[in-house]
Amino acid sequence: MIVLGIESSCDECAIALVKDGKQILSHVIATQIELHKPYNGVVPEIASRLHTQWILSVYRQAMEEAGISASEIDGVAVTNRPGLVGSLLVGLSFAKGLSYTLGIPFIGVDHIRAHLYAPHIEHDIPYPYLGVLVSGGHTVLAKVSGFDEVAVMGTTIDDAIGEAFDKVAKHYGLGYPGGIYIDRLAATGNDRAFDFPNPSLHKGEHTYDVSYSGLKTAVINQLDQFWDGASEKSPENIAASFQRAAVTILIRRIKKALRDTGLTRIVAGGGVAANSRMRSELSSLQGIDVYYPSLTLCTDNGAMIAGIGYQYLISGERSPLELNASPRVSAFKRTYP
Ligand code: KG4
Ligand code: ZN
Repeated sequence: MIVLGIESSCDECAIALVKDGKQILSHVIATQIELHKPYNGVVPEIASRLHTQWILSVYRQAMEEAGISASEIDGVAVTNRPGLVGSLLVGLSFAKGLSYTLGIPFIGVDHIRAHLYAPHIEHDIPYPYLGVLVSGGHTVLAKVSGFDEVAVMGTTIDDAIGEAFDKVAKHYGLGYPGGIYIDRLAATGNDRAFDFPNPSLHKGEHTYDVSYSGLKTAVINQLDQFWDGASEKSPENIAASFQRAAVTILIRRIKKALRDTGLTRIVAGGGVAANSRMRSELSSLQGIDVYYPSLTLCTDNGAMIAGIGYQYLISGERSPLELNASPRVSAFKRTYP
């Protein structure tokens, strides 16, 4: 079964053709990063207009690379939530048009579940596991028991982890998106130069939530106010100390979640899962197997949409042509505990 997957929830216009949920026939990602760079962030209006301009050529390229004709596509999967609504609507309308004209089923999928599904394309991973989704828009810890059985344990109460990396990088003029620049600078910095706050959220026994706005504010404001001129205030030291604090916040919650659930596997996805400190801390967890998708499947892509879409389609699920886009995360089937 060949499924065409469409991803247009943010600034990547991506389409992939995947056979039987595993074999990637083609995988095209047109990134808008350069066009949003002057604004140091994604401008929703620009994003949706670019998706409208680009989606047809991305589709044509994906078809050409796969070397198949439209009549060979068995189903269409598309991200319909969460994300920027104007951008989501471009992919969703395109998916509906294909489904209608080709007379094939289509399914709208949740972007977060698709990220958690991405490593299954390349690895055989047994359920259950702790899903760790860390990106520019999301910070989610979840007990994952099946492709559609995701129990959210914790999330960010304010900024997403990648957003904190991006905002700190923006403040210090390091580049956009900032995660990779901070990661590179941190490699030669002293991670103990500054002791940034590591907030504890005492909402209850089962709190796996994280907060990044306090850390971000401390790095941006406190450093400017109190440490200006200090000899250790180099970009390398700021980056290393911030990165240590940002990763520690999450690792503490991950350790607690593993202890409480008894899970022995982690699947990590999203752009921040590429962070070198995050990877080394995760791989040093005793007795835990950690799986990552390869770099192109870590960030937004159409293959993860086609992959999870295949699972829904073979289990008989379909979306109606009236399906709408939503900026919000869908209601997950179960919540933990
Ligand atoms: O998953 P993604 O491509 O897009 C979504 O946000 O959905 O993630 C992008 C985020 C950005 O915030 C970027 O700065 C961050 O991932 N990122 C990193 C690294 N590479 C990308 N953050 C820290 N270290 C990295 N090496
Ligand atoms: Zn994403």
